[in-house]
Amino acid sequence: MTAVTAGTAAEATMETTAEGFEAAFDAAVAADERIEPRDWMPEAYRASLVRQIAQHAHSEIIGMQPEANWISRAPSLRRKAILMAKVQDEAGHGLYLYSAAETLGTGREELLDKLHTGRQKYSSIFNYPTLTWADVGAIGWLVDGAAITNQVPLCRCSYGPYARAMVRICKEESFHQRQGYELLLALSNGTPAQHEMAQDAVNRWWWPSLMMFGPPDDESAHSAQSMAWKIKRHSNDELRQRFVDICVPQAEALGLALPDPDLRWNEERGRHDFGAIDWAEFREVLKGNGPCNEQRITQRRRAHEEGAWVRDAAAAYATKRRAGSVPAEDGVRMMEATA
Ligand SMILES: [Fe+2]
Ligand SMILES: [Fe+2]
Repeated sequence: MTAVTAGTAAEATMETTAEGFEAAFDAAVAADERIEPRDWMPEAYRASLVRQIAQHAHSEIIGMQPEANWISRAPSLRRKAILMAKVQDEAGHGLYLYSAAETLGTGREELLDKLHTGRQKYSSIFNYPTLTWADVGAIGWLVDGAAITNQVPLCRCSYGPYARAMVRICKEESFHQRQGYELLLALSNGTPAQHEMAQDAVNRWWWPSLMMFGPPDDESAHSAQSMAWKIKRHSNDELRQRFVDICVPQAEALGLALPDPDLRWNEERGRHDFGAIDWAEFREVLKGNGPCNEQRITQRRRAHEEGAWVRDAAAAYATKRRAGSVPAEDGVRMMEATA
């Protein structure tokens, strides 16, 4: 038997009290360790993560709609295959993220219900329409580009399952960003009409993509606490600035202009200055008054209702598997046949 010293006994007592749990959590966050599903965590930390991860998951699956709109009209087989792969990736991102939320004790059904009834939000960027084929390029370059800028620091988020999901998501997002850039480059170097179409798409997507970083720091309700918990690592304005600085030389290489007369290099700051964002528009879209809010949520509800038979079949199959009445191999074949 090991002798218990006064110190370790005191530590053991500490660890089993509420203050002890909180101290252990704070110490783990301070030491940049990961918080895992079975670890004690403050309820506010759990709720904040569920809110953020749910909003992120919803954005991934709603974000499939504006681009899926162009799958049947992609100009070549190659472009169609690339776009289909990208839209499928976004569905996969939604699934990783709903799974990450499940590790916090909140089920997918509940989160989807909140999305369908407007009690949880998705990124306001997906309430804008995709009017031309060039929009697919602008979304890849700017929207996926902004998403990467936001999400790379989340790979170091204090909550383990979210951080790990983000590692894989970011790898796929960087493919999305490059396909958008390459698509725009082809259009920009194409006929005058194609160039004009690419420029028009960039004109329409530039400002909404800057809004993706969220409200300015002094108006951001959740930022300070999220940074203290190391869920977020950088402020909204800091990430927005980083994104602008990345995009300026890329726009030059594309031969496309960014639609901001105030955009210029600031020698003193070593960053680009840029014009004022129309936050009134942002708030209107958030309130549900964007061009496509209604359409997006109606389509999502319909997809959910029409997919009920798939969920029922999967649940019935899982029950049979548990009862041992379906061999594993048949299950694989069945899933392939219904995929
Ligand atoms: Fe994604
Ligand atoms: Fe993406």
